[in-house]
Amino acid sequence: MKDYKNVVIFDHPLIRHKIAILRDERTSMKEFRELVEEITTLMTYESLKEGIPTTEIEVKTPLEVCKQTVITDGSIVIVPILRAGLGMVNGVHVLFPSARVGHIGMCRNEETLKPDTYYCKLPAGIEDKLVIIVDPMLATGGSACDAIQLLKDKGCKHIKLMSIIGAPEGVSKVAEAHPDVNIYVSTLDRCLNEHGYILPGLGDAGDRLFGTK
Ligand code: PRP
Ligand code: URA
Repeated sequence: MKDYKNVVIFDHPLIRHKIAILRDERTSMKEFRELVEEITTLMTYESLKEGIPTTEIEVKTPLEVCKQTVITDGSIVIVPILRAGLGMVNGVHVLFPSARVGHIGMCRNEETLKPDTYYCKLPAGIEDKLVIIVDPMLATGGSACDAIQLLKDKGCKHIKLMSIIGAPEGVSKVAEAHPDVNIYVSTLDRCLNEHGYILPGLGDAGDRLFGTK
């Protein structure tokens, strides 16, 4: 895959370790859910190194008053792409408990692999916030591209996308369609199969999170 300025692929031994367990078909639903949350928290810490709105405040220590920066209150909105993105929400909330949540429901058509949007509910004022889209799987990139476009059409200007596993095809598609969006992927897999599943991947993230298969 080409080098894109707006793409960060994490290569951290701790994340790699957790992803190895996540991929394993013997991993239980409970453990899968916990791992998705833990990986998301690690990704959030890294992804929000830049571009996060901060405010300067004064703090009085027992010795003197000093200036400090804190994250601007209410400046972050998490947007999971349903269903699988729901599994990542708590992982961000661990670090930003007051972040509001918008939901975008999308389902890939199994034949065309194109996403259909069936639900959208976003917090008021989202256009001025830092929006973090979460979806564990970035496969063809269709769902992520459409979700980003939907948010841009609502006026959002600061958007980040976090996915646990990306396929080169999907990462390239989103990176090229939305060069202003920072894309964070924990690991880049080999390719897609003929059904649009990521290889080696982890199977269907929604099914593994919610036990629907
Ligand atoms: C999965 C996944 C992504 C999408 C990725 O959702 O959670 O949203 O596929 O594929 P793409 O990059 O090719 O668009 P799915 O459509 O299976 O719905 P689900 O989460 O409800 O199972
Ligand atoms: N969605 C999934 O859940 N898994 C894939 O491999 C591709 C899309």
